[in-house]
Amino acid sequence: MQASIYDVAKAAGVSASTVSRVLSGARAVRPESAAAVAAAVEELGYRPNQLGRALRKQSTQAIGMIVPRVDNPFFPSVVQHTEESLRHQGYALLLCTSNDDPDIEAQRLDMLTERQVDGVLISPCHQTLSLPAVRRAAERIPLVQLDRSVGEDAYDFVGVDDTDGIRQLVDHLRSLGKRDIAYVGGDRGNWSGAQRHSAFLAAIDAHRPERVLLASFSETWGREAAEQLLTAPTPPDAIVCGNDLIAHGVITTATRLGLRVPHDLAVSGYDDISTATLVQPSLTTVRQPVGDLTAQATDLLLARIDEPRRKARKLILPTRLIVRGSTTQAGAAAPADGVRVPAPSTDVLSSPVQV
Ligand code: RIB
Repeated sequence: MQASIYDVAKAAGVSASTVSRVLSGARAVRPESAAAVAAAVEELGYRPNQLGRALRKQSTQAIGMIVPRVDNPFFPSVVQHTEESLRHQGYALLLCTSNDDPDIEAQRLDMLTERQVDGVLISPCHQTLSLPAVRRAAERIPLVQLDRSVGEDAYDFVGVDDTDGIRQLVDHLRSLGKRDIAYVGGDRGNWSGAQRHSAFLAAIDAHRPERVLLASFSETWGREAAEQLLTAPTPPDAIVCGNDLIAHGVITTATRLGLRVPHDLAVSGYDDISTATLVQPSLTTVRQPVGDLTAQATDLLLARIDEPRRKARKLILPTRLIVRGSTTQAGAAAPADGVRVPAPSTDVLSSPVQV
């Protein structure tokens, strides 16, 4: 049986995205990883079956991709990793954005279908309003969802364990002695916003409606929500944010109001985008495994191109808690409950989850 990119990754002891980077000639691969991948490719006789794919069916060798926006650093990272994965398999990428608008998203899906791309990768901007266009496109061309889903198991989906990610953040803040924790997140219309909001309610004991504010995954919303929370008579002592952009906005407002982060207010983000370590204090956050997310989604799509009627799969990848200065100072004294807090930038890997 033809070895897959995952067989090579397992044999080499690296991730699938590393295999993809080695084989696509991308930079920034450690020499020992490149050597291990080369040895595994040789040992397993791995060959990308792009020739068989092109011979068997009319192939444009182009893949369409639709993401909600590219002015949020999370999505350019997803696009970059996807392009590298596809380049190795001989495909070009045709990128579109939906601007978080289901009507624009539907138009882009129709355009990609008419241009006869070989398949589509999509992060649907809305769990229900995106469904008709996703259903229509999936009837005509291979389609895989990544990062966000329309919530139906009829379509391949690769996402992350938001429930565990948010729980890790709440547990971390509690270990610091924080007891009045608020949540500022994206709207529930999209998969990520809904998953993280539900995860926060499940992780927190006493739910106080005034401590949970939802609107958009934006820095502007973070500033506005923080103004509302931090000027209340009894402000919270910690704020969990639905993504890093919101956290940037919260810290901007907290600082303007004369609060010290983390001394007066602990703040956490989600994604671990490039700016998370460029600000002071650097962000405690949850790192999304973007490399594996895109490699697994790309692999599912190529498998569906080869076998259009295969059963849909749902893969939920583990997340990592990254502790930095926005929740604790380096070498902080043990908090009230006596649990020692690791120094900043400590990775804590949640257990893998596959459904
Ligand atoms: O930052 C934008 C958020 O929406 C990310 O957390 C990502 O999961 C996307 O769905």
